Amino acid sequence: MKVIVAKDYNEMSKKAAQIIAAQITLQPNSVLGFATGSSPVGTYQELVKKNQAGEIDFSEITTVNLDEYRGLPKEHEQSYIKFMNDNLFDHVNIDKANTYLPNGMANNPEEECARYDALIESLGGIDLQLLGIGHNGHIGFNEPSDHFENGTHCVTLTERTIEANKRFFASADEVPRQAYTMGIGTIMAAKKIVVVVSGEDKADAVKNCVEGVITPEVQGSILQLHPDVTIICDEAAYSKLK
Ligand code: F6R
Repeated sequence: MKVIVAKDYNEMSKKAAQIIAAQITLQPNSVLGFATGSSPVGTYQELVKKNQAGEIDFSEITTVNLDEYRGLPKEHEQSYIKFMNDNLFDHVNIDKANTYLPNGMANNPEEECARYDALIESLGGIDLQLLGIGHNGHIGFNEPSDHFENGTHCVTLTERTIEANKRFFASADEVPRQAYTMGIGTIMAAKKIVVVVSGEDKADAVKNCVEGVITPEVQGSILQLHPDVTIICDEAAYSKLK
């Protein structure tokens, strides 16, 4: 695991965008795995700047997102598809037909999970996966558990995650209770992984993922077993690492 310390959120975002831009330059038809939430917003802003400056080209890029809330229609302000359009896809020269997320409105969760796994497999897997880390160490919406799930599955969000995500909704009651998430097996099969983490409130999660015991109680701890992970932390998130 490579850990890069950035001065602050902006520097973290710039460093992450540089790595993703290099991936796009080296392999213009890359499959990029993307995340939502606060952590990658600055990274997406930097990628938009680079695209608009003509430094990187998204025309042959395909994207697959980690997760989507179950039960939120695409048009909902807080759906992850809307997040991706607002923060990245609407501002770069990507073909939206090549951008994929789980369908939060699917009628049959099992079929939807199988469809998403088959889709990722048909794309040949993920070349570079961008991740954030939850306070409980979750990656995607793989919440603390007694095992690691391999493929896409429908999860019940923990109270801690609902609490953390209520800032985007009118109240905690409006946060969906379930979400579809890529499994740990799919994330770990990505060729490269880049993690962005900032803020003192994430310092314990970073410590547990980077230096802790590898356990499904801290799903991100499994990243220690991946051969090509770069974690970019700001100084606050880095502060508890030895
Ligand atoms: C988002 C995702 C989550 C977030 C994590 C951190 O697609 O899969 O694992 O990366 O909850 O969220 P933020 O960045 O909002 O602190």
